[in-house]
Amino acid sequence: MLMREPIDVMSPEFRADPSPFYARLRSEPIQQVEPGGLWAISRHEDVQYVLKNPKLFSSTFLQQIMRPEWLAGVGNPLSESILTMDPPHHTRMRALVSLAFTHKTIARLEASIRQVAGELAEDVRRQQEVDFVQAFALPLPAFVIAELLGFPPELRSKLKQWSDDIISITASVPEPPERIAYLRSSLAELQSFLREVITDRRARPREDMMSELLVAEVEGRRLTDSELVAFGTVLLVGGLETTVYLLGHTVRRMAQAPKVLARVRAEPALIPSRVEEVLRLDSPFQITLRLTTQEVELGGVKLPAYAPVAVMMGSANRDERQFEQADELVLERRSPQLLSFGHGVHFCLGAPLARMEAHLALEELFARCEGFVLSQEALKWNHSLGIRGPVELPLHAIPARRGADAGARSS
Ligand code: HEM
Repeated sequence: MLMREPIDVMSPEFRADPSPFYARLRSEPIQQVEPGGLWAISRHEDVQYVLKNPKLFSSTFLQQIMRPEWLAGVGNPLSESILTMDPPHHTRMRALVSLAFTHKTIARLEASIRQVAGELAEDVRRQQEVDFVQAFALPLPAFVIAELLGFPPELRSKLKQWSDDIISITASVPEPPERIAYLRSSLAELQSFLREVITDRRARPREDMMSELLVAEVEGRRLTDSELVAFGTVLLVGGLETTVYLLGHTVRRMAQAPKVLARVRAEPALIPSRVEEVLRLDSPFQITLRLTTQEVELGGVKLPAYAPVAVMMGSANRDERQFEQADELVLERRSPQLLSFGHGVHFCLGAPLARMEAHLALEELFARCEGFVLSQEALKWNHSLGIRGPVELPLHAIPARRGADAGARSS
């Protein structure tokens, strides 16, 4: 029998279009992939099972990967964050941060997000030839994260660099050696800015999330400064890149399907369904990692103890056992049970915020642009194991005829 090469989830082919690889993985649902012989979990049912069982599939091993020796003395706040905790530690932390990450926090941002989205959409309409990532998809979430963290506007342009730097940290030693000094100083700088915000809000509380996090209390316990820095770092890394890619994927798909775009522009009530389907088909967070805590049997296969597991939400979202016409964008789809925001105890805290950003972004873009023509060859994908999206999206925006677009909101 011919042995097939294991799938490499970092290969350029996989990055460009993972769906045929996922289909192959789901046909033999528990198998090892490259890099590192990760155990791939690809079916909807199995992905849900893994994410629902932190006792068997732990997040804590990420702590060591994210805190390599060459960062000694500086540390990586992400490695001590909510993302890398298991219950009961995670349960306590989640209860505390949830007190500040409420519906009210998000609703407070709505008017300013709409205003910034409107200004950016106006620039896209005026310039017509833009890299959509630089012109819109990055500045909007950067504005939101800066607002949440309480950073002044001049620091917004630094957020992406900090986020990229943290994401680039792995157990291996970075090359060239000068990069070690650079990453150490970048992480120290981010932590020092976050500590400045904490000190300021402690002295002068405002109506913002950091001020609320400072007084959040569960069973007589409050967050320490280090925990606040760690949570601020998760918001930056978890909330920026993912939302940039959600906006990029949405506009890329609109450019590819002008008829669907025309329908959604005429009927803005369809915008939320459209966003859900893009989240399902092009989940910005494709793969998360876990480690088995003991030998576990899944799908008839025995996974050894301490095996690294690649939990493929991107594949689960296209599982034909779960979704009819799984590879098609179906606006009428009901209760899609997408796993793009994870499942279980670590379910994304920012999901309502990301959805609101996307809805407002589309409303403002549709009011000003009638369509988008993509320059397909120039599209560039990012390079990461878990997160997938376009880093450059050059396009031509077709301005909307003023007054002719009854359906789209005009502000
Ligand atoms: C389209 C955008 C987004 C996607 C696809 C996404 C996806 C995810 C996923 C899959 C997880 C779970 C990871 C795991 O189980 O290992 C997660 C966790 C998290 N996300 Fe998001 N996210 C998005 C936007 C945001 C935003 C805007 C914020 C906040 C500003 C945010 C904050 C968080 C936090 C704090 C967690 C950790 C929750 C916990 O560990 O209990 N996310 N996100």
